[in-house]
Amino acid sequence: MLEVENLCIDLGDFHLRDISLSVEEGDYLTIIGPTGAGKSVLLEAIAGFYPLLSGRIFLDSRDVTHEPPERRGISIVYQDYMLFPHMTVFDNIAFGLRKKDLPKEEIKREVKYIARELRVDHILHRKPGTLSGGEQQRVALARALVIKPKILLMDEPFSALDDKTREKLRSLVREVIAEHGTTVIHVTHDFEDVFVLAKHVAVMREGRIIQFGTPEEVFSRPQCEFVADFTGTNLLRGKIVGERNNLTMVKVGSTILYTVDKAEGNVTLSLRPEEVILASEPSKCSAQNVVPVTVESMERRGYHVWLSLSSDDFSFRAVVTPNTVVLLGIKPRRRFYALFKASTLKVIK
Ligand SMILES: Nc1ncnc2c1ncn2[C@@H]1O[C@H](COP(=O)(O)OP(=O)(O)OP(=O)(O)O)[C@@H](O)[C@H]1O
Ligand SMILES: [Mg+2]
Repeated sequence: MLEVENLCIDLGDFHLRDISLSVEEGDYLTIIGPTGAGKSVLLEAIAGFYPLLSGRIFLDSRDVTHEPPERRGISIVYQDYMLFPHMTVFDNIAFGLRKKDLPKEEIKREVKYIARELRVDHILHRKPGTLSGGEQQRVALARALVIKPKILLMDEPFSALDDKTREKLRSLVREVIAEHGTTVIHVTHDFEDVFVLAKHVAVMREGRIIQFGTPEEVFSRPQCEFVADFTGTNLLRGKIVGERNNLTMVKVGSTILYTVDKAEGNVTLSLRPEEVILASEPSKCSAQNVVPVTVESMERRGYHVWLSLSSDDFSFRAVVTPNTVVLLGIKPRRRFYALFKASTLKVIK
């Protein structure tokens, strides 16, 4: 569907460097990365807003590298909606269809259909300035989807919305995208978007894509320190020392841990903080790894509490619910057991 080959862009102080990307029909790709990584520039380059230094872009096997944005069959949705303020919702949604010179009746039918899907059919007569943020973004989505784009690009589409509205819109987008089989590239800072919506995720840093994979691959098998840190995954370094009960034994400092992965020699291991269970007693659990730890610090983030833990040999992070904090009496300097299954400790290198 979309092939980006060795794309380079020079914006003076900033460069997109040798970006290659392949997105299949019906795929949902999220792009994550720190601010200034070039996520928006990449999206706009695909849309055709920047001249390329080198590289090529194919859409449906057609070379569109030198085609102007309006001929590419791409729609973009932005964080700040970007609706035409002087037009009604109906006219906003109809805009792309009118440019195609479709018959009036057909335009009306298509607008009404998509408006119903995005639950804005009751506000078609209103002007954008009178709508809530969530309503405006649903209109922007309707306007983007009504032309049946080959690919829908979204740049932080939910970030201006409150939590509840964001959650609702996210599920609505999921429904509508699945219904239409739309191919999507979605830039986000919200990992929730990645887990709820994405089939693939690309991590960008300093104008490059540094990892690409399924959400599961990227979040539990980060290929470098940067991705591990950015996605909040723990990295441990150890050495494979043997096998027991079909599990691989790995020595991290003087602690023996177990993994189901097969490997040899020195290894880097990853462990998601969500997979760690804290307990006052070392037993009564099917987890093969039991590590005595001290709580170094704790930090509330959203609904969860992040713990920095240290054992005699290594430090790592775990995430627990506020309820667990109360039940176990978790406090800095207190000692617990960190339990995690062999299947959650992954050899990544
Ligand atoms: N038209 C432009 N001309 C020159 N530099 C630009 C232009 N647009 C963006 N940049 C620079 O390119 C870099 C990447 O910007 P971009 O907007 O793609 O970042 P981003 O990854 O989307 O960040 P954020 O998460 O904050 O939105 C930034 O340093 C920015 O200042
Ligand atoms: Mg951006």
